[in-house]
Amino acid sequence: MIVLGIETSCDETGVAIYDSERGLRADALHSQVDLHAEYGGVVPELASRDHVRKTLPLVQRVLDDAGVEKSEIQGLAYTAGPGLVGALLVGAAIGRSLAYAWAVPAVGVHHMEGHLLAPMLEVDPPAFPFVALLVSGGHTLLVQVDGIGQYRVLGESLDDAAGEAFDKTAKLLSLGYPGGPALAALAEQGDPKRFRFPRPMVDRPGMDFSFSGLKTFTMNTLRELETGVTDQAERGQLHADIARAFEEAVADTLAIKCRRALQETGLSRLVVAGGVSANQRLRHRLNEEAGKHAAQVFYPRLEFCTDNGAMIAFAGCQRLLAGQHEPLGFGATPRWSLEELEQPGGQG
Ligand code: KG4
Ligand code: ZN
Repeated sequence: MIVLGIETSCDETGVAIYDSERGLRADALHSQVDLHAEYGGVVPELASRDHVRKTLPLVQRVLDDAGVEKSEIQGLAYTAGPGLVGALLVGAAIGRSLAYAWAVPAVGVHHMEGHLLAPMLEVDPPAFPFVALLVSGGHTLLVQVDGIGQYRVLGESLDDAAGEAFDKTAKLLSLGYPGGPALAALAEQGDPKRFRFPRPMVDRPGMDFSFSGLKTFTMNTLRELETGVTDQAERGQLHADIARAFEEAVADTLAIKCRRALQETGLSRLVVAGGVSANQRLRHRLNEEAGKHAAQVFYPRLEFCTDNGAMIAFAGCQRLLAGQHEPLGFGATPRWSLEELEQPGGQG
């Protein structure tokens, strides 16, 4: 089955064609980073308007790149939530309309299901069941995944998501938006021995996360030590050392919770996805932890860690193949728990 996937939940327009026989045929992405940069974060209305401008040209581009005719598309998949409602509605409206015009079924995909299935686009895909650590800008979740639509949330963030914590901390350090990659780059220059920041909630049982205290701790450390520092180089080094300590604390906290999830579920495969899974220190720390417990870790390729159309085309294809599709009317679900999903074609 050849499926066209559309992702417009936040600040990237992603479109891709996935073919269940031949794999990923084409993938195109337009990032809105430049559009939102001057505001220091995503402006929802600007995001929606930009998706309106970019989605159809990207659809044409992936058809051309894949050498696929419109008439060969057998299904449409679009992100139906969670995300920014206006942005979601653009993808849903376009996805639904194309499906209607081309007389093929369409399916609304859960954005986090897209992320958690993204490593399945790789050469050595994980087999079910596995534990998934989903670390994006809006969510931090540990999920037991028994199959498509069979999700049990083991833990989640009680406040800021991991990516949000990176972005807010980056802002404190006067780095641009999105802050995660910039903070990671700065942390490379940092001295890992200068500070040790707290690992939030690791001394309590359970697998929930909380990152807002760590963000405040980082802010207080910065304010306290920055006062009176006039030398530019010294200030730069302080920022880098703080970035490093913050990054180590987040990576370590996530690794500790993953270890717990693997132990409690008795599973030996860990999938890590979402924007923050591009972070090299996190990958290093998780690989180290998995090594100690004879577990295998699976990641998407770097460009599929952050939002993209390929993961939506893939997830949608699995559901369409199982016979699931939506009636003509469409909507978007800005707040949507993974556990509300059902197994395609089965009892949820
Ligand atoms: O999954 P994603 O593209 O969008 C959401 O669904 O939210 O994740 C975006 C998040 C942002 O917070 C961004 O700063 C973070 O992922 N991120 C990173 C890195 N690359 C992206 N955080 C840390 N290190 C990175 N290398
Ligand atoms: Zn995402």
